[in-house]
Amino acid sequence: MNELDFVREALDDLAVFVRTKYASRATVKISEKREANDLLTEVDLAVQEELVKRIKKVYPHDFVAAEEAGFSRLPDDPNVRAWVIDPIDGTQNFVRGLFPSFGISLALAEGGVPILGGVAVPITGDLFLAQRGSGSTRNGDPIHVSAVSTVGLVRAEIDFGGPWDRPGTLAAFDTVIRTAGQIRCHCAAVIGLCSVATGDMDAYFHVGLNPWDYAAAQVIVEEAGGTVTRLDGTPAYLFDGGHGLLATNGHVHQNLIDIIRPLGDS
Ligand code: IPD
Ligand code: CA
Ligand code: CA
Repeated sequence: MNELDFVREALDDLAVFVRTKYASRATVKISEKREANDLLTEVDLAVQEELVKRIKKVYPHDFVAAEEAGFSRLPDDPNVRAWVIDPIDGTQNFVRGLFPSFGISLALAEGGVPILGGVAVPITGDLFLAQRGSGSTRNGDPIHVSAVSTVGLVRAEIDFGGPWDRPGTLAAFDTVIRTAGQIRCHCAAVIGLCSVATGDMDAYFHVGLNPWDYAAAQVIVEEAGGTVTRLDGTPAYLFDGGHGLLATNGHVHQNLIDIIRPLGDS
């Protein structure tokens, strides 16, 4: 089985599992990670365990970088072939039943760059897939970024993250918030990023994402014709720690970089 089929099959299966768990989420076990705004559920752990098990069986020599307890480590050698897992991106939304916007994210990276990615959105039934050089699809149909080219018309997804992200978010994106045409936030990185890939949104902003939050969605945005970089326009290298991310339709990328205040400026 090739890698794309492997990702498709794993995400299809786990979307069914997560949909079932969501329906009975009142009984799902929840714990806190760093603090009360940082949640972990038994569903995150079960999805991660199943994905790791499948990867180890089919690709035993590949590195696995996964978010939750037990597997949360980045490769010592950043150039290895690495699978990057976010078992549920948007755990807050899952737990609280918000929107409901959350996804399962699985990517394959080489040299710190994602080359293949899949995002399943269990509640809508959408499956986003992309392989470098082959375009992006939603449920098998090609998707493309929008053509919006002026900041005053941009539909901007500002991802506010947790309370620890807010000071940086307000400082960095102050001018964006004041001047963009529309502002939205799904508060699930994979949903925000895939919304740029489909052209529903024109830009996505975050001051500090981990690799599992965006690895799969990065290749989905890029293969849909978009651009993904750090907030200063430099390439987004997956394993350089948690940094800001800007994903756009490409047309407004430089204009937005010009009005982002560099992180660390007062
Ligand atoms: C979170 C979501 C959210 C982003 C946070 C992430 P999680 O991931 O992607 O949109 O703002 O920074 O931690 O915790 O739901 O997997
Ligand atoms: Ca995440
Ligand atoms: Ca997660």
